[in-house]
Amino acid sequence: MNQDALKTLVGQAALHYIEPGSIVGVGTGSTVNKFIDALATMKGSIAGAVSSSLASTERLQALGIRVFEASEVDELAVYIDGADEIDHAGHMVKGGGAALTREKIVAAQSRHFVCIADESKLVTTLGRFPVPVEVIPMSASRIARQFAQMGGTATLRSKNGAPLVTDNGQHILDVAGLQVQDPQAFELQVSQWPGVVTVGVFALQKANVCLLGASGGVKTLVF
Ligand code: 5RP
Repeated sequence: MNQDALKTLVGQAALHYIEPGSIVGVGTGSTVNKFIDALATMKGSIAGAVSSSLASTERLQALGIRVFEASEVDELAVYIDGADEIDHAGHMVKGGGAALTREKIVAAQSRHFVCIADESKLVTTLGRFPVPVEVIPMSASRIARQFAQMGGTATLRSKNGAPLVTDNGQHILDVAGLQVQDPQAFELQVSQWPGVVTVGVFALQKANVCLLGASGGVKTLVF
């Protein structure tokens, strides 16, 4: 099975976690796109979705799924999202699709985080994938120097030759060369630096379950 087929498999498997009549928290990315396509097959049984990005909102609405603002609804039963990396305790690196801030907000609003990923995303220690950090533009150089002191190399993410601008109007630094031994301590530390909007380590909002697409089928990891 190729990676695309594995993403389809876990996207469909995530439907088992959807409570009938509920509003579903929906992440962002190519794996989540497979989930959204699967969710459309049961759109009559859910009330709608809260989305973590403009891209997911567009896809949900195009498939006829009602999208609510996060602030319009209370707690969500479940949040379904992908990851760039996940460790054996459910800590993740996220933000490869630049949606980390809204992803963390919707995850925090949800009782249950179900991560959907293919097995290439499972790691022992977070940091092989450069850690995305959404920053206020005027703070980017100083934050890059702070990461350098930790042994990381921060690069401003660009798109079409200009700095990428997130859905929130901010920039992203991708920090390579880190070995995140204590994800919760790292998240707490970096979140306090002035100018950091969101760090792409999800330890406080870690996954409760990971549906991991492997050649033998879907493995369910419970944390
Ligand atoms: C977007 C994310 C995604 O969940 C992450 O990048 C994984 O994406 P994909 O499913 O395309 O590999 O954090 O900000």
